[in-house]
Amino acid sequence: MTQGALQARQLSMAFGDHVVLDKIDFEVRDGEFLSIVGPSGCGKTTLLRLLAGLMEPTSGELLANGKKIDGPSRDRAIVFQDYSRSLLPWRSVWTNVALAFESQGIPRAERKTRAYALLERMGLSAVGEYFPGQLSGGMQQRVQIARCLAQEPTVMLMDEPFGALDALTRQTLQDEISRLAAERKVTVVFITHDLEEAIYLGDRVVALAPNPGRIAETLSVGLARPRNQLTTRETPEFLAHRHRLFKLLIEH
Ligand SMILES: Nc1ncnc2c1ncn2[C@@H]1O[C@H](COP(=O)(O)OP(=O)(O)O)[C@@H](O)[C@H]1O
Ligand SMILES: [Mg+2]
Repeated sequence: MTQGALQARQLSMAFGDHVVLDKIDFEVRDGEFLSIVGPSGCGKTTLLRLLAGLMEPTSGELLANGKKIDGPSRDRAIVFQDYSRSLLPWRSVWTNVALAFESQGIPRAERKTRAYALLERMGLSAVGEYFPGQLSGGMQQRVQIARCLAQEPTVMLMDEPFGALDALTRQTLQDEISRLAAERKVTVVFITHDLEEAIYLGDRVVALAPNPGRIAETLSVGLARPRNQLTTRETPEFLAHRHRLFKLLIEH
């Protein structure tokens, strides 16, 4: 029996008497790219914070590699939508990326070499000495991703990470994150309210219905990789998935 990288069993979360997530069961397989899609307010961020170990569920179980999640772990890195608030504005780009190395006690020269290797990978080596506020939104989000990778996580938890970017930058970053996830064999939980983004990126898509948040459907995407912004999105399979999810979300 394979053990999922992450498992939720009968997971519920309420704030006071407001039930936000109601008895959710799902599994994220090792190395899988799982998209979670749902309308605004259905509990996506709450679910991600639970997976990160930033809060405790009201009831039910959450497991990482078969062990109860009882707090944040370096194994699970989080990428937030709001890159401008997640980077430290007074630190240079490379020292933002090197944060994880500092907490591991790695000497400065090595921190710099390793941070620049990640920046290079993200096409950012020319701006390592800049401050975050001097970069475009797309570049800042790349810095945040590089900083997460520095943690060498086994799981990346991403909360609408490309939601604030323009369409073209967003597509470029979608392809980069796909490539990185495959290359590093990292498990990804990717939250979005964009149906097409969920399908384009995911091995599977979990669709949440609101009030209270619960799983409406889990869909296996099955589109060949690497995916292509033009041709993948034009395949009958892609369109069928889009149709299906769109109808589901309209129904609820
Ligand atoms: N810390 C909190 N205290 C009280 N209510 C909260 C808290 N966090 C989220 N909520 C409520 O939970 C619901 C789901 O929020 P959220 O998980 O942010 O949804 P989404 O990310 O899908 O837009 C909302 O009604 C929100 O107001
Ligand atoms: Mg949210």
